[in-house]
Amino acid sequence: MNSIENLQWRYAVKKFDEHKFLSEEQINILKEAFNLTATSYGLQPVKMVVVKNKDLQQQLVAHSWNQHQVVQASHLLVLCIPKELTSEHVESYFKLVKDIRNTPDEILNPFKKFLANDIENKSQEVLFHWMKNQAYIALGNLMTVAANEKIDSCPMEGFVPEKYDEVLGLDKYNLQSILVLPVGFRAEDDYMKDLKKVRRKTEEVVIELS
Ligand SMILES: Cc1cc2nc3c(=O)[nH]c(=O)nc-3n(C[C@H](O)[C@H](O)[C@H](O)COP(=O)(O)O)c2cc1C
Repeated sequence: MNSIENLQWRYAVKKFDEHKFLSEEQINILKEAFNLTATSYGLQPVKMVVVKNKDLQQQLVAHSWNQHQVVQASHLLVLCIPKELTSEHVESYFKLVKDIRNTPDEILNPFKKFLANDIENKSQEVLFHWMKNQAYIALGNLMTVAANEKIDSCPMEGFVPEKYDEVLGLDKYNLQSILVLPVGFRAEDDYMKDLKKVRRKTEEVVIELS
């Protein structure tokens, strides 16, 4: 199927088949797709927690506006960002560039200094919004790749991040949850499954200037 057919096939699943699970290969594709997501300056501030534990998933239902997709899904992907971002993150990124590309310090250092300064001078609140934006890019990328792989998903903002952080023990990773994406397979009786997509006309949302 082509990209547009795959995007037509995708919808925000309201009920997953609790008996179907992603294979190791499928989950690996999603992990790689996440890691290949573009990020501002390439700094990759977003982390993905992969939950495959029905006990934990069940506990999270109460903190997800009672949305049962989080427990029905094969896996629950939780996109997170650091509670605090420091210039160490920039340091480790540039070390990676050097290791992988063998780029000389004279070329890397000015840019490294600029970014480290930039991060040190920004408030954690500004950095929070910047990192949060990156998480949304990862979400979009994951949903599209999942659709191409015939994996179902449901993007979710409807949850209580502080409670997720508590249940998943994210504090010890210096992380806070931002977005949730249950992944798996649609249930045969999901009431949304056969509903027509609701979208404005393409001409209404795309402005062409020539
Ligand atoms: C950022 C974001 C957050 C969303 N949060 C929820 C949610 O908490 N629960 C839910 O059932 N759907 C959620 N949705 C799904 C949207 O309602 C859905 O994508 C939209 O109605 C379009 O329908 P479609 O994705 O099925 O084509 C969310 C979508 C996005 C992009």
